[in-house]
Amino acid sequence: MSDKMEQILELVSQYVNEREDKWEPGSDWVSYSGPHYDKEEYLAAIEVLLSGWLIFGENAREFEKKFPSHLGMKHGSLTNSGSSANLLAVAALKSKNGYNLPQGSKIITPVVCFPTTINPVIQSGFQPVFVDVTLPDLNPDLDQVERLLESDPEIRGIMFAHVLGNPPDMNRLMALVKKHDLIFVEDACDALGSYYDGKKLGSFGHISTCSFFPAHHMTMGEGGFVATDSARIRKAVASIRDWGRACYCNTLKPGNVTAGTACGNRFKNWLTGMPEAVYDHRYVFDEIGYNLKPLDLQAAMGLQQLKKLPDLDAARRKNFAILQQIFKPYEKYLHLPQATELSDPCWFAYLLTVKEDAPFDRADIVDYLENEKIQTRSYFAGNILAHPGYRHLAEPYGDLNSMFPVAGLVTTNSFFLGTFIGLTEEKLAYIKKVVDSFFGTVR
Ligand SMILES: Cc1ncc(COP(=O)(O)O)c(C=O)c1O
Repeated sequence: MSDKMEQILELVSQYVNEREDKWEPGSDWVSYSGPHYDKEEYLAAIEVLLSGWLIFGENAREFEKKFPSHLGMKHGSLTNSGSSANLLAVAALKSKNGYNLPQGSKIITPVVCFPTTINPVIQSGFQPVFVDVTLPDLNPDLDQVERLLESDPEIRGIMFAHVLGNPPDMNRLMALVKKHDLIFVEDACDALGSYYDGKKLGSFGHISTCSFFPAHHMTMGEGGFVATDSARIRKAVASIRDWGRACYCNTLKPGNVTAGTACGNRFKNWLTGMPEAVYDHRYVFDEIGYNLKPLDLQAAMGLQQLKKLPDLDAARRKNFAILQQIFKPYEKYLHLPQATELSDPCWFAYLLTVKEDAPFDRADIVDYLENEKIQTRSYFAGNILAHPGYRHLAEPYGDLNSMFPVAGLVTTNSFFLGTFIGLTEEKLAYIKKVVDSFFGTVR
């Protein structure tokens, strides 16, 4: 390493070490989440940046080797966001090299969701079939799922996200997946580090996805992952991510030799429509793809975050337990979160739903907390069909609140607080003080 580079890295270390992390109760925000990274991530990112290699490279390849086991899968592809990961997973359902599901195939999905869990279903020309969710977990209502599957043999798949790290009854769900021969896309974007009956969330689906947006269990700024046990599906996903390219040297065996490094034969009669033509495999396209690749810099940060994941996860579990103590006395007014039987969630957040008979509204408690500088968030879209962009999909369902009553309640009454490592004991004590003082005003 050159002297100048060493100096730069040393200065960056000093700069990060000297950062002040001051927090004043009542004047500084208690964030619901945020990136938690240190000099290691900065140094890794700067080293990659200064190396001159910007695009998918050795750090991304290394990350792709290391990360699948975190979702209990064998293979995986790094991408530039969790939304891209969902898009790729659904594209693999459609691909002739993937699951080859026909246009218009029906996919069950809950009506309460993060938009980009279900958007790819719509964007890829499949037909979403919406179900309501259950309280307090907000996971898909499995009674409804079962009824639909019994009555409609055209349903081919199911896609949903484990809600804030807490799964539905996976034994029952997986029995339905098996019985009805469904493809299951498991959005584990909020569920990294969570388990069901000793098995990692992210390992149940045919394909599962993860997000590395700063609010998530670990971050690389933006980033996402598609995991699978199938080498064939992994190849299709990587191709769709990389413009549809047939050549897989980028992800498996980099190099630039004429003979080709991964397939062993770069120049060959690859074009099925012009069998006489000798063509460069690097510009042969197996898929109608996108470009959803990450920067190598993101992967370099991700590799550093992976080392910290045990601490990041432990903090979420601990903070969740403290928040549960804080809110327990007010259970009369609120549906408190509850881990599904057999599950061990690494909670993304602390989810609350104000009970219908409570003498206050969600706005009252959320305003109170936010006025005291405690950040809250809605449970993402609530009922997605109520949103302007989705109204055309709502028509067949008639009155949304009669069709999806729990989703209606979630949209008006649910919210969450953070659980991330940035919630220090001091901040949690402050949350307790503010929460107790709010309930002191409730008559
Ligand atoms: C359940 C779920 N799925 C998908 C996404 C999309 O991930 P990203 O923000 O990385 O695109 C999110 C985002 O937070 C999410 O919570």
